[in-house]
Amino acid sequence: MTGYTTHHFEAASRYTVSVGYDRRLYEHDIAGSVAHARMLGRQGIISEADADAIVEGLDAVRREIADGAFSWREDLEDLHMNIETRLHELIGEPAARLHTARSRNDQVATATRLYVRDAIDRVTALLRALQGTLLALAEREQDALLPGYTHLQRAQPVPFAHHMLAYFEMFDRDADRLADARRRVNVLPLGSGALAGAPYPLDREWVARELGFDAISANSMDAVSDRDYAVEFLAASATCMMHCSRLAEEIVLWMSHEFGYLQLGRQWVTGSSIMPQKRNPDFAEIARGKTGRVYGSLVGLLTTLKGLPLTYNRDLQEDKEGLFDAVDTLEATLDAMRGMMSDCSVNAERMREAAEDSALLATDMADYLVGKGVPFRDAHAAVSALCELAAERGVAVTALPLDEMQARCSAFDEGVRELNALASATARDVPGGASPARVREALAAAKTRLEASRG
Ligand code: ARG
Repeated sequence: MTGYTTHHFEAASRYTVSVGYDRRLYEHDIAGSVAHARMLGRQGIISEADADAIVEGLDAVRREIADGAFSWREDLEDLHMNIETRLHELIGEPAARLHTARSRNDQVATATRLYVRDAIDRVTALLRALQGTLLALAEREQDALLPGYTHLQRAQPVPFAHHMLAYFEMFDRDADRLADARRRVNVLPLGSGALAGAPYPLDREWVARELGFDAISANSMDAVSDRDYAVEFLAASATCMMHCSRLAEEIVLWMSHEFGYLQLGRQWVTGSSIMPQKRNPDFAEIARGKTGRVYGSLVGLLTTLKGLPLTYNRDLQEDKEGLFDAVDTLEATLDAMRGMMSDCSVNAERMREAAEDSALLATDMADYLVGKGVPFRDAHAAVSALCELAAERGVAVTALPLDEMQARCSAFDEGVRELNALASATARDVPGGASPARVREALAAAKTRLEASRG
């Protein structure tokens, strides 16, 4: 017995070989096989003695693989055939009974779902750690104010903590999306056979419980051809990478001389091979850059699935490489983002200087006129004209002579000199707003939520 090859192996057949990458699923594949063999024994479909021999043999195979002692064979195409063939070498005849009432179609779907479930749990833990780091940074820099931007133009002063909490929310939604996807990932396809089920008295519920699945699939044809769970995982991953990329972009901007808001620890910057003065934010740039490949995996899989008739088609084997690459990319990126944010120094002085740019008080000047009974649109027009005047003269808009202000709007008085960056943020005292008191509350609430999510 050399192996269960389904056709003669020639150079051309390399085209269909997947063992080079699908061997990553070995633990999940073996877990599925162990549960299946036990169930076959319990149901009297195979003898208990054979089931025991299979389970023991699979354990030996698992150890060989873990120790790097296993020799993978390309002529056996995929990991399933490699493992089964090795099992046969080790235990003989009982191995040939393992595949009773099973097809590689429901087998691979089971292993891949187990793999995605584990990946979701690891990614979620990394997301929670990153959120914790953002909270710690927000807390440490509670007094820092910086300009909030729209159109990358200085808009209104906001606490730095408010800015960090915005990313906390994004990553919170990412974790929520993963948890939601996990419910649909965690469904057992095994027992669906090749496509129509199996002519044996299977106990699918028992297998589901053994493997920690919440439910069994309701339709065998759907179960062997469905890859929605991978699409959903990739969509959540792509969204999470997009968030990482946005934060990375802020790091890149803030590290520039033009902003000078942030300095990353030495570990997270790289020198230039030619320009000695450079401290480049390469990690942040790579995070931004790697986002594209995760989008690629998502679009790649959607494209593979489009137009496939029911049920299993070999195209489905193409689900794996993009999925694995997305998992690796996302895990490495979340870890780098956490590393950067936990090892950076904030230049609060520089931020405050920028936040105190009087142009940022334009909205407050308008609101101040509204407080004196001026309709907002009129106030807006008056302040807009004054901003232009101040810009022409190169002076602060709040420092223009009072008579010139009053020429645009008679409601101006000396009270306008009291406007400042901190007062501007403090005034935004609405739920979800940027006032330091609200931000302190939001920070405490975020901490409670994060702790609750960690259970
Ligand atoms: N390597 C295959 C895959 O990943 C396993 C299933 C093969 N099934 C089949 N009928 N050829 O999809």
